[in-house]
Amino acid sequence: MIIDYELKYKDKLIELGKKLHDNFNAGFNEYTRCLLYLSNNTLVGFITFKIMYEKCEIEDIYIEEEYRRQGIGKKLLEEVEKKANKCENITLEVNENNSVAIKFYESLGFKFIAKRNNYYGKEDALLMEKKKDFYILAIETSCDETSASMVKNGKADLGAVILSQIDIDMSYGGVVQEIARSKHTTNITIVLEELLEKTNMKMNDIDVFAVTSGPGLNGSLLVGVEAAKTLAYIYKKPLIPVNHLAGHIYANNIENELIFPLLVLLVSGGHTELIHMDKHYSFKKLGGTLDDSVGEAYDKVARIIGLPYPGGPEIDKLANIGKHTYILPIPKDDNTNDFSFSGIKSAVINLVHNEKQRGNDINIENLCASFQEVVIDILIKKTIKLAKELNINNIILSGGVSANSLLRKNMKEICDKENIDLIYSSLKYSTDNATMIGAAAYYAYKENISANSSLNTNPNQKL
Ligand code: KG4
Ligand code: ZN
Repeated sequence: MIIDYELKYKDKLIELGKKLHDNFNAGFNEYTRCLLYLSNNTLVGFITFKIMYEKCEIEDIYIEEEYRRQGIGKKLLEEVEKKANKCENITLEVNENNSVAIKFYESLGFKFIAKRNNYYGKEDALLMEKKKDFYILAIETSCDETSASMVKNGKADLGAVILSQIDIDMSYGGVVQEIARSKHTTNITIVLEELLEKTNMKMNDIDVFAVTSGPGLNGSLLVGVEAAKTLAYIYKKPLIPVNHLAGHIYANNIENELIFPLLVLLVSGGHTELIHMDKHYSFKKLGGTLDDSVGEAYDKVARIIGLPYPGGPEIDKLANIGKHTYILPIPKDDNTNDFSFSGIKSAVINLVHNEKQRGNDINIENLCASFQEVVIDILIKKTIKLAKELNINNIILSGGVSANSLLRKNMKEICDKENIDLIYSSLKYSTDNATMIGAAAYYAYKENISANSSLNTNPNQKL
């Protein structure tokens, strides 16, 4: 059992402390503190530590010989970590010849940061540090998916829960705004409860709450924003509003590391943009679609040829079986950094109509292959052209359409040839998810972006 220091254990504590070093004393105050480990009411171990504002230093840790290797040291350190939950880091010194202790601290996440010469008489000490973990609970409800995720230190996905409305969307051939909003209202508490259960965490463990504030469907966004606002208010934690597009970009920082300067090809259901970043959380739009997004073109073409919603994955699947045999116009094949995808949708409508009039059957797989080749080609061509113009060696793909197999494959081939580093995330982070919102929130928080309870949604929010 671990308890805070009590005076009645003073003599025994000093007796144990002297086994560590002669000048051990039990003079504790509001900064220098001590936790005791009792076994059957007998003091068998202790830890002393200092918490000074944002820093925590472990001073002494001792366990009686016969109680070692039972996890008591780990329990004591974990208890200190809980008490130091507002600190940025925990440090300690260890004798550089005590390899058992060094391994033990390493196993708990401490890392070597400096050497202290002659710290123990003639022997040196290693200064070790454990950075405090930073937990973000992120909520994403911008479209038809109710999703919450727990993100540690902006990177580790500790668990995510996502409730999709895809069955409902499929029966309506797309997202119906009012139905989506109402579904989010039902699902949001389920998702949050499941997330806490799955990650074995409590709301009190969370450092900040993050939420997508836009762009997206207003009714859907409102559900997430209200939930996050309420949580931040009740648990008195900062609230971080995240732009959905920043989330898509930071999906690439979960499994990989963004290296600047970089060029983002952001292709989703609502957006098609080329964005330049020269540092974290700094976005400069250099080009974009003048009409439909590429995701919209996929979904609309799928509808024309009788494929279910969402059309992107369906077309991608069939295109891989078919051959590029149909002639379709190359959309906005010019020297600008802009795109246009409404023409190709009309071209597909005309093609289907003309073939039907001629009494010809449409080869769906081939049509999918032709459509896919043409749109992916122009996306790649304009991205590479711009990267070369700007002399940028890092490209990242983001947004739902970045799940596309041809885009990934062809872009990788050309980047390899041009000596450009390409990053794309695994599929679960490409389409809408809350983990990407948590990953972006980590950097937004560093940039002092936060909101109070007057936060509102912004359905047309720009980056
Ligand atoms: O990013 P996202 O999940 O939601 C928005 O923010 O819009 O993107 C959804 C879009 C849909 O248009 C969907 O058809 C498309 O991404 N998509 C794909 C693929 N998977 C999803 N498009 C082409 N190929 C895919 N494999
Ligand atoms: Zn999205």
